[in-house]
Amino acid sequence: MSDSATNGSTGTGGQGPASGPGDGTRAVRAGLPEPVKHEPTLPGPVFAAHFHLPGDPTGPYTYGRDENPTWTHLESAIGELEAPGQDGVETLVFASGMAAISSVLFSQLRAGDTAVLPDDGYQALPLVRAQLEAYGIEVRTAPTGQDAQLDVLDGAKLLWIETPSNPGLDVCDVRRLAEAAHARGALVAVDNTLATPLGQRPLDLGADFSVASGTKQLTGHGDVLLGYVAGRDAVAMAAVRRWRKIVGAIPGPMEAWLAHRSIATLQLRVDRQDATALRVAEALRSRPEITGLRHPGLPDDPSHKVASQQMLRYGCVVSFTLPSRARADRFLDALHLVEGATSFGGVRSTAERRGRWGGDAVPEGFIRLSVGAEDPDDLVADLLRALDETAD
Ligand SMILES: Cc1ncc(COP(=O)(O)O)c(C=O)c1O
Repeated sequence: MSDSATNGSTGTGGQGPASGPGDGTRAVRAGLPEPVKHEPTLPGPVFAAHFHLPGDPTGPYTYGRDENPTWTHLESAIGELEAPGQDGVETLVFASGMAAISSVLFSQLRAGDTAVLPDDGYQALPLVRAQLEAYGIEVRTAPTGQDAQLDVLDGAKLLWIETPSNPGLDVCDVRRLAEAAHARGALVAVDNTLATPLGQRPLDLGADFSVASGTKQLTGHGDVLLGYVAGRDAVAMAAVRRWRKIVGAIPGPMEAWLAHRSIATLQLRVDRQDATALRVAEALRSRPEITGLRHPGLPDDPSHKVASQQMLRYGCVVSFTLPSRARADRFLDALHLVEGATSFGGVRSTAERRGRWGGDAVPEGFIRLSVGAEDPDDLVADLLRALDETAD
């Protein structure tokens, strides 16, 4: 359990009692090189398309699409958080979460293979599905909730899990699904975007890959696009690395450095934001105009039981439905402290009516709220005021 398990917004993650440094200690130190006199704590971004390379082209740094020292520090940091104290885990950073997702799917699957995806995951997954099918890969889908992907696993080469799912916040049992997939010879990848590595450690739960958009709470300031893949299987990771080289979906050094700097405050941000998200969810539950209120930390949420067993923290997203599209739009307009924007995980609260994109199977009045680092009292007051002011 994390060092912050006393704030009421944490699960156990099935990790047992704390051992080694706490999450805050690990986050502020993650990926830092050994101190060198007169050098900065976190070396600045290295802007280089190529590196001095006379003679035989030996690594580690040859050409800027293959490797960069700023990525190396960031990859160490993410790896230390995804798999603390474990040897043999490799982490690769990408230009975006989608670049990371695509790198796993397209490097591991071949024509004739079958992949299982969630049918309620991030809204770009159907686009990925269409592309996989165009390459001759069979794609089956099933909902995240109630481990429904178990029913379509036979013959699959790869299982893609997204838990908690975005935007519905359903949770599946990663350990159970991973065991079933491995028994059938399938690889398992988990999209860990919503939880962050301080909220959930998919590799500990049996996954082969933990994949995420670092654009969200990992970096948390709404100013960086980033993705990563962490994995233990050297052969599979070599294929992911090769894919990054072929496609060139690499992060800029500045983005990588900003991400690393942001990770130092990850524990502060997730503890604050996730605890406030639970408070917000509790404040919203008594409102008669709200239906379908979801947050994995709510004790009576359908996701709570499994979430409390495999998650260390429950995330900063709360979702709910207002009676109509018009009511939802009025409510969003009336908010003062919550910006109308897509994405989630940032220090400034954001919300949107997901139906405006047309991709998610959600009601017209469905709202995804991302809880930021504002004072909890201020945020709750703003939300309740906006609900009162926009009542029919
Ligand atoms: C769960 C999830 N995975 C992946 C992505 C894609 O990440 P990116 O926008 O960094 O490409 C998103 C983006 O919202 C997401 O919510």
